[in-house]
Amino acid sequence: MIIAVDGPTASGKGTIAKALAAHFGLPHLDTGLLYRAVGRQVFLDGGDPDDGGDALAATSFPDSLLDDPHLRNEETGGLASRVSVHPAVRQALFDRQRSFATQPGGAVLDGRDIGTVIAPEAEAKLFITASVEARAQRRFLEMQDRGVEVTLEAIQDDLRARDERDRNRDVAPLAPAADAMVIDTSALGKEEAIAAAIDAVRQVVQE
Ligand code: DC
Repeated sequence: MIIAVDGPTASGKGTIAKALAAHFGLPHLDTGLLYRAVGRQVFLDGGDPDDGGDALAATSFPDSLLDDPHLRNEETGGLASRVSVHPAVRQALFDRQRSFATQPGGAVLDGRDIGTVIAPEAEAKLFITASVEARAQRRFLEMQDRGVEVTLEAIQDDLRARDERDRNRDVAPLAPAADAMVIDTSALGKEEAIAAAIDAVRQVVQE
């Protein structure tokens, strides 16, 4: 069984994907991490994330980069969103995601285009969404916890810019697959969102 979990930044899709993987006993891949590694590698190379050639060269990042704590920060998220518009970058990361998705026994993948491009045959497709305000508020609390000084407005502006870029790019834009089940987590707590996702998957697959 393949479970595809797509949605915008800070929608809760990562948390939900991990919980689904644990619940259904499947391996999980956070595909955003691959784009983040490319963004980080461009930065380390002193390259330009908006240049297709620089971004493509960065797709041969070493596996060890996937453990770099810098991948999680907002700057790298922005770089990831910028490198992800280049079709050659998406193509270079395709095989890795596709083989993970099609491994025997199944898998859970979260990202932007899992249900539409990477695994259109996925048995269960979830599209996790939430208002910009709710997502910004969550990100704000997370960052405050980590002691990062930032304003709610700055986070909202950044989320809007990333949404805009992810939704409007030519190749594999962020959009729910026609057969995706949409879960809006704006008014849900973490456990409620996870329960809603497990219920949604149960509707389409036998446990
Ligand atoms: O999910 P995330 O915030 O870690 O993703 C970072 C960026 O990577 C996101 O802004 C767009 C890009 N991305 C993508 O284009 N396709 C995916 N499947 C996953 C992420």
